[in-house]
Amino acid sequence: MEQEKQEVYKEFKEYIIPPSWKDRVWDIEDFKKFHEETVKDKESVEKWWVKWAEQLPWFRKWSRVLDDSNPPFYRWFVGGEINLAYLCTDWQIEKGRKNKLAIIWEGEPVNEAGEPKEVRKFTYYDLYRISNRIASALRDRLGVRKGEIVTLYLPMIPELPFYMLALQRIGAKHSIVYSGFSAVALADRVEAAGSRIIVTADGLYRRGRIIRLKEVVDEAIKILEERGHRVEKVIVVKRTDRTDVPFNEARDIWHTDFLAGIPENVRVDAIPLPSDDFSYILYTSGTTGAPKGSQESIGGYAVGLYATMNMIFDVKDDDIYWCTADIGWVTGHSYIVYGPLMTGLTSVMYEGAPDYPGPDRWWSIIERYGVTIFYTTPTAIRMLMKFPDELVKKHDLSTVRIAHSVGEPINPEAFRWLYSNVCRNDAVCSSTWWMTETGHILTGHLPGLGKIYPLKPGTNGYTLPGVKADVIDEDGNSCPPGVRGYFVIKTPWPGMLMTLYKDPQRYVDIYWKRWEGCFWTGDYAVKDQDGYFWILGRADDVIKVAGHRIGTAEVESAMIMHPAVAESACVGKPDEVKGEIPMIFTVLKHGYNASPELEQELKMHLRKTIGPLVASDAIIVFINAVPKTRSGKIMRRLLRAVVAGKPLGDITTLEDETAVKEVAEAYNMIKEAVEKRR
Ligand code: PRX
Repeated sequence: MEQEKQEVYKEFKEYIIPPSWKDRVWDIEDFKKFHEETVKDKESVEKWWVKWAEQLPWFRKWSRVLDDSNPPFYRWFVGGEINLAYLCTDWQIEKGRKNKLAIIWEGEPVNEAGEPKEVRKFTYYDLYRISNRIASALRDRLGVRKGEIVTLYLPMIPELPFYMLALQRIGAKHSIVYSGFSAVALADRVEAAGSRIIVTADGLYRRGRIIRLKEVVDEAIKILEERGHRVEKVIVVKRTDRTDVPFNEARDIWHTDFLAGIPENVRVDAIPLPSDDFSYILYTSGTTGAPKGSQESIGGYAVGLYATMNMIFDVKDDDIYWCTADIGWVTGHSYIVYGPLMTGLTSVMYEGAPDYPGPDRWWSIIERYGVTIFYTTPTAIRMLMKFPDELVKKHDLSTVRIAHSVGEPINPEAFRWLYSNVCRNDAVCSSTWWMTETGHILTGHLPGLGKIYPLKPGTNGYTLPGVKADVIDEDGNSCPPGVRGYFVIKTPWPGMLMTLYKDPQRYVDIYWKRWEGCFWTGDYAVKDQDGYFWILGRADDVIKVAGHRIGTAEVESAMIMHPAVAESACVGKPDEVKGEIPMIFTVLKHGYNASPELEQELKMHLRKTIGPLVASDAIIVFINAVPKTRSGKIMRRLLRAVVAGKPLGDITTLEDETAVKEVAEAYNMIKEAVEKRR
């Protein structure tokens, strides 16, 4: 523990100021004072956010900034009416950006010279026209109405934002399922959202191969039929050149046929929607098997995005912005689609893998379009920094002026590499913490405010003005600097989730019950002597594999669906590149023997039930019994400690209810199994 502490804490005092910012640096005490003013009381918080809200075009102005009469169901800009699609297209056109590029999309496949085979560019007017046509078809051909939730199971192609905007125009909602999820996971989410329409693609390109998507949808529909849920229509975007796409003529329709005959200039008014209506649901992993439908607002969400695009990304009209996430996760919703479009940016959108056809693909993209703002993940940086720096240097990255990371803690080495290679030791670089449930960024550096506070490798910095957070102990007391505790948010913020879809009680229980009046994030953190936050990782049973959020309970319930598995316990194993990978301790039923073949079969089973994102990295370790406390709880902390290679001495006190001897036995049993696996 001591050593761990020193490792983490030595960066507390490493201050970095990008030279071009040297005249625009906050004195830390001054920044803290400025920040405190914005969170002093409810009035100051409201005042801060109103400043941003006033910059947006409301159909009707709010009557109340923050309705906190029914906590924790806070509602922002109540009485106001607004529409996300209007902000992202109509408003941009009004502002003179009709012919400005909104999206530059690059497909993965390359020609012999290594250049992208397909680049598609869309202006704001293109986006407007296409989303109007889709909105018209959805409304008039399929009867999609305000409030209906349509599931989008699409890869990183422009049609995904097109459909998102089309749905927002007519007040319908989306539930996007990441294209790396399997048929079972898709079926669960379609059923929970009650969708009768799915939009998908025939496939996608990944590392030079075609990944089939339509088949996954068909399988999901079969599962749904068995459960009595009927999917009426599947709209299929043609992305690949495959000719063997299974097609059910009665139910499936190609995207181009769906739009056939709809006039190019059709107009569907973006309808005014109440600020506290919801814009989408996004299923995310939690600590029980059932995924949670994070329900996002409209008005508050828009304000939070607009503000963070300005504060964190310091957007200017001539920027070229690139967020490398996938739209299937929240980062893509907020910072590929709604945030950049409502601030009128030109964004790059890339379909494929960072290392295809070579590990400098990303650097070539930055060079090709002159990217100025780069938003990426620590996992990608750790993967790409393993290759010779010459691969970066051979590309001109001199345009980059801001590079932030997100999704998981960035280790100081990865930060330094990003800062020196991509930022050439002179750009604002920080780790922006937030989560699906927060809707938008809540920590990070704020170049858009005109001055920055000093950078430090690995920190998350301060929360935004208007947002008060803390690191607290079990009893809710503030932890002193340097002491690890639980990361909580103490003031409502505009993009906060409204509730969990159809499960308000679960929303209260998970996030608001543990400490009175605090939103519990699920993360461990530490504060340093300057008040900077350092998010250290999840304190619950959620693991982050390459920044993707996975509930261990979801993995465990998938495992026991296999006939050979009696019990299983999944924990995250620290991994140099991916942050964590799932290690699944598995007890077999009588009559089954551990073997490499069975392990393979179980991985295939995981691929089918959850999807490749878990299956490809999972390590399955066969054991005789899952170690449990006397009251029957899995000794997760013990499992975590063993896989992290910690000695027994550190963990005998962890499982209070159980005798030291039993813990030691369990420890040895697990350690042996893990070592055998190596
Ligand atoms: O553990 C934190 C980690 O990602 C979790 C949220 O995951 P998700 O809802 O998938 O959203 C990810 C993208 C917004 C958090 O509870 N996390 C996210 N960003 C950071 C982070 N951990 C440390 N530093 C970050 N910048």
